[in-house]
Amino acid sequence: MTHRLLMLPGDHVGPEILAEADKLLRCLMADFGLDAELEYANLGGCAVDAEGEPFPRSTQRLAEEADALILGAVGGPQWDGLDRDRRPETGLLAIRSALGLFANLRPAILFPELVDASSLRPDVVSGLDILIVRELTGGIYFGQPRGIRTREDGTREGYNTLVYGTDEIERIGRAAFEAAARHNGSLCSVDKANVLESSELWREVMESLAPAYPNVRLSHMYVDNAAMQLVRDPRQFDVIVTGNLFGDILSDCAAMLTGSIGMLPSASLDERGRGLYEPVHGSAPDISGEGVANPLATLLSVAMMLRHSLDEGALADRVERAVGRVLADGHRTADLAGPGVASIGTVAMGDAVVNALREARD
Ligand code: NAD
Ligand code: IPM
Ligand code: MN
Repeated sequence: MTHRLLMLPGDHVGPEILAEADKLLRCLMADFGLDAELEYANLGGCAVDAEGEPFPRSTQRLAEEADALILGAVGGPQWDGLDRDRRPETGLLAIRSALGLFANLRPAILFPELVDASSLRPDVVSGLDILIVRELTGGIYFGQPRGIRTREDGTREGYNTLVYGTDEIERIGRAAFEAAARHNGSLCSVDKANVLESSELWREVMESLAPAYPNVRLSHMYVDNAAMQLVRDPRQFDVIVTGNLFGDILSDCAAMLTGSIGMLPSASLDERGRGLYEPVHGSAPDISGEGVANPLATLLSVAMMLRHSLDEGALADRVERAVGRVLADGHRTADLAGPGVASIGTVAMGDAVVNALREARD
């Protein structure tokens, strides 16, 4: 059966890195028997410019018909002044919500070749392999009421609502327990239960799920301590499960342990395993147009798609091995090379991965 893949390049470096995903997929189709067709649609700032809204109906229709979606990144300073409902980021939240993509898997794996690119000492990070499971369609990102209002005294206030229902906590909890059972069997639930009622319930529900997963050890940690522990001794973690906002922050932090935010892929899955795949980083407007963005997070997101949505685990392994090969051969984009060290651009890095994939086959 032909897999229908929807490509959403987005803004700034989004199209640059998605071109490399397109190149990788066409190689997999031409030489490795992947049966897929690629379609393109607008999401984010480019959709505002072309169609007047960040998540147009045309995109929603194609998204609902697709077997899997690959996103570059959205956003940029030229859209920051728009009303919130027309901002690129609102389009990203809307597609996650419309497709029910509640389970966001963000694996932070340190390729051994990059141990010196990490901002932490090799003895602290080598062998790092953790997974952050972030709740993606609830919490303070979506809670009502929200807004900016004028108080009686004429001053203004901004407000948001952090709310989690037991149903939402249970489904992300089950996804996380299952992920931990496949990983190394320990699950750390991160919350702020010493202050927040939503976290109190979160902790209670996580505990109530534990008996159904006797092979998984459940522990709890406050988010402030978790941020500290991630840079003190990150390998103490196996799988982390947390809410939307805490997961957003902790995953950028975990990204740096792997050498660069340009290395972290992600999968956002619905109840049936259909997903949207995207790098964890943003649209990097500060380097867009220069052809220097690291495409590896995006290519590793393609590998996650092959594994989680297309049932092509062997091809996913091949892509991940090709990335390892390229790094072992010394190829580095600027974010990985560090100042003063020779580096290659986005297109050359994509070419190197495709070449490594082909060479490993021959
Ligand atoms: P960012 O992740 O875009 O950039 C942070 C820093 O990391 C920048 O210095 C950037 O140059 C660097 N960086 C990011 N990706 C890189 C890559 N692949 N290779 C090399 N360097 C890379 O975060 P930001 O600057 O806070 O946000 C920029 C825009 O992106 C904002 O509009 C924000 O809302 C949006 N954003 C979108 C997503 C998404 O689409 N999923 C995620 C995060 C931020
Ligand atoms: C991410 C991003 C998004 C988020 C923004 C752009 C809406 O930071 O995917 O991590 O906060 O979820
Ligand atoms: Mn983020």
